[in-house]
Amino acid sequence: MSTGLRLIRLLADGDCHSGAALARRLRMTRAGVWKALHKAVEDYGLALETIPSHGYRLRGPLELLDPELILGGLCGSGRGRLARLQIHDQLDSTNERLMAAAPAGDPAGTVCLAERQTAGRGRRGRVWVSPFGTNLYLSVLWRYPVGPAGLGGVSLAAGVAVATVLHRCGLTDIGLKWPNDLLWRRRKLGGLLLEVAGEAQGPSHLVVGLGLNLRLDPDQAQGIDQPWVDLREALGAAAPGRNQLAAALIDALLEMLERFGQVGLQPYLAQWARFDLLRGKPVQLQLGERLIVGDYDGIDPDGALRLNTAAGPRSAHSGEVSLRLSASRSVNEQL
Ligand code: BTN
Repeated sequence: MSTGLRLIRLLADGDCHSGAALARRLRMTRAGVWKALHKAVEDYGLALETIPSHGYRLRGPLELLDPELILGGLCGSGRGRLARLQIHDQLDSTNERLMAAAPAGDPAGTVCLAERQTAGRGRRGRVWVSPFGTNLYLSVLWRYPVGPAGLGGVSLAAGVAVATVLHRCGLTDIGLKWPNDLLWRRRKLGGLLLEVAGEAQGPSHLVVGLGLNLRLDPDQAQGIDQPWVDLREALGAAAPGRNQLAAALIDALLEMLERFGQVGLQPYLAQWARFDLLRGKPVQLQLGERLIVGDYDGIDPDGALRLNTAAGPRSAHSGEVSLRLSASRSVNEQL
């Protein structure tokens, strides 16, 4: 671990630490502390306060990712399904890391987390805002004997797995917008990006990537083009710890990935309907250049979106769905 990161870990409690005390802990000079700390703060995009004659303090405490806490928080079967746990201080993207390594043979059940992503990927080419040390950026690799076409609906099952964990944490107003946007009271709390590769007849590998806002400061969220929320606001003091939540999500995603391979989407359909935020609503579906307008009619057993349009019923496996605009209100206001 770099000196800068060791300093960040010492400051993670959110308290003020003198340069002299930090220097003593890491057996270095105060000038060395100053230099390494400022570089780390710059590298990781953190806000550092310098309190004259007292020392340094981060803008808020950080619960950094801790492999022991995560492993200790897994249930017995989760530990059995987990093949590898990778925790990185900084990555371009946890999905990219697992997708790139998969052809070399990383096993099903490899899990990758990062404190920060420099090129976090969202759906439809968007950037996923991924500041250091506060949110969860989590990807899970799984392998299937079938080809990619046999995995239809797995993204919905992933949404159900995550929404169920959040609901159990007390987030009663959590909902899903097809296929797997996680919204709390109309604002985006998290999202899933699934990437798959393989032979048409199988085998294939799948990476499920979850981004979840636990604590996002408004200045960090400036690039987000829709209403957003973090768990700190949604759950307040009842919010679970970052490592505890990571463990619960890993348990749930690993279980879902294994079960999906055995029985598919069917057992998740009822739960999906419970979290479904679009039910009974007029919607529009952007499919490439085309805009299809209709009334939302739930999902097919394979996870396709069903629409009743003026030209009759339609199903779609991809596209960006949103509520239909009325003259005076925006899509996100209405949801
Ligand atoms: C969305 O647009 O709603 C999906 C966002 C998915 C973001 C996560 S963060 C962990 C994983 N790594 C990535 O680069 N993207 C996903």
